[in-house]
Amino acid sequence: MSPAGAAAKNAAVAQPETADTVIFEGGKPLVGEVSVRGAKNLVTKAMVAALLADTPSTLKGVPAISDVAVVRGLLEAHAVTVTEDVDGELVLDPRGVKSAHFAEIDAHAGSSRIPILFCGPLLHQLGEAFIPDLGGCRIGDRPINFHLDALRAFGAELEKSYEGIRLKAPQRLVGAKVDLPYPSVGATEQVLLTAVRAKGVTELTNAAIEPEIIDLIAILQKMGAIIVVEPNRTIVIEGVESLQGYDHRAIADRNEAASWAAAALATRGDIYVRGAKQQDLMTFLNVYRKVGGLFDIDDEGIRFRHPGGAINPVVIETDVHPGFMTDWQQPMVVALTQAEGRSIVHETVYENRFGFTDALVQMGANIEVYKEGIASITRRVPRRPLEQAAVITGPTPLHGANIRVPDLRGGFSHVIAAVTSQGKSEVSNIGIISRGYEHLLQKLDGLGVSFELGA
Ligand code: EPU
Repeated sequence: MSPAGAAAKNAAVAQPETADTVIFEGGKPLVGEVSVRGAKNLVTKAMVAALLADTPSTLKGVPAISDVAVVRGLLEAHAVTVTEDVDGELVLDPRGVKSAHFAEIDAHAGSSRIPILFCGPLLHQLGEAFIPDLGGCRIGDRPINFHLDALRAFGAELEKSYEGIRLKAPQRLVGAKVDLPYPSVGATEQVLLTAVRAKGVTELTNAAIEPEIIDLIAILQKMGAIIVVEPNRTIVIEGVESLQGYDHRAIADRNEAASWAAAALATRGDIYVRGAKQQDLMTFLNVYRKVGGLFDIDDEGIRFRHPGGAINPVVIETDVHPGFMTDWQQPMVVALTQAEGRSIVHETVYENRFGFTDALVQMGANIEVYKEGIASITRRVPRRPLEQAAVITGPTPLHGANIRVPDLRGGFSHVIAAVTSQGKSEVSNIGIISRGYEHLLQKLDGLGVSFELGA
């Protein structure tokens, strides 16, 4: 397959990062190649891990996304030096780390939830930390109770105020037994980033085991940590007094890879995703095959393509790893609007992750959302009251519409829907997608999409 994007066809790609509204002319298959770099959901945490060390760390494969810029700003606010002499390679030097004013933390944090992961490392380095009111994508309540309970178990003292939460560690944090009520990704990372330098042993049960977490454990091991991943979601960490910097290439972004795969299916296209890794996408690939999508795996990436003819409906249940990731369902829903028959997506991780389907309905899709869910299936993790389901009946031709991006993954789905649709679609608030997808417009340009920047 020829490398995509050799010559930019859309004038807009010259200044894409500043675009807020983009007008797409849809209806053509996406064909070509895109590259994915380090996973947003690892890279940002790896940057925080650098805070735990006495010496600088080097992180490779860092994508140019705004969540990375947010964490960089937060690290710099704490006097950590961050340099990028080589594209995608950050050197993070924590030797001058010091406390930051809460207003500065608040300003840098923006809508990100990452500041909460600074707590353990800052408590070890400085004895204090601060969590501003947290944002992140609007996909449910997104509470932080698991994080706070874990930090208390390590001996941190918490004080709530109108600006946020102040934390103190009057003495060295101590290892703890933490049993998570649900295998939360963020809370597992919180425990890892805190336990590695706590005094004594930490036993974490019902931990998340996503590939990004295993990669974070690999980084911490390079730094000198002692972490054992046991069967049944148990992780045991023997705390050490100090850690050294790491040199690490981030795991590839499987969520971005899955997004492009779904885009190929939705648009009857053919996309080679350089950097996509089969091992991290196995559950996604099984569903892709059941839907009728084709894929060819080689050493450098995966080629995803529409089979021609009809594609099949499917029933999907989102779940923690090794289940079907919640971040994969939104782009797949767009592809399923083109399947022959009725598909069902059960969302079990977040309580409000079908808001993006309103825009798809506006574009002609037949999707009904059941806010209380519609089935009781045996699950790997306990059922929680936040389940929702979407029933998608296809195939429905999509037509252009004016739509507003609600959040990161929903936003990517809107863009796929816009390029699948016949006619023009004006997509606003598109900047939010740069939180997790680098060079989106350049990549679309390389895949043959026509668009122009809005007013
Ligand atoms: N939860 C609680 N209390 C907590 C923490 C979580 O009730 O203290 C609940 C959440 O409300 C949610 C569930 O547990 O219902 C799972 O949340 P989790 O903590 O696993 O999610 P997260 O760490 O906040 C990360 C990713 C998400 C991804 C989820 C699930 C990052 C920065 N974010 O979020 O990614 O969907 O894990 O895999 O790593 C995205 O990339 O667009 C995104 C939202």
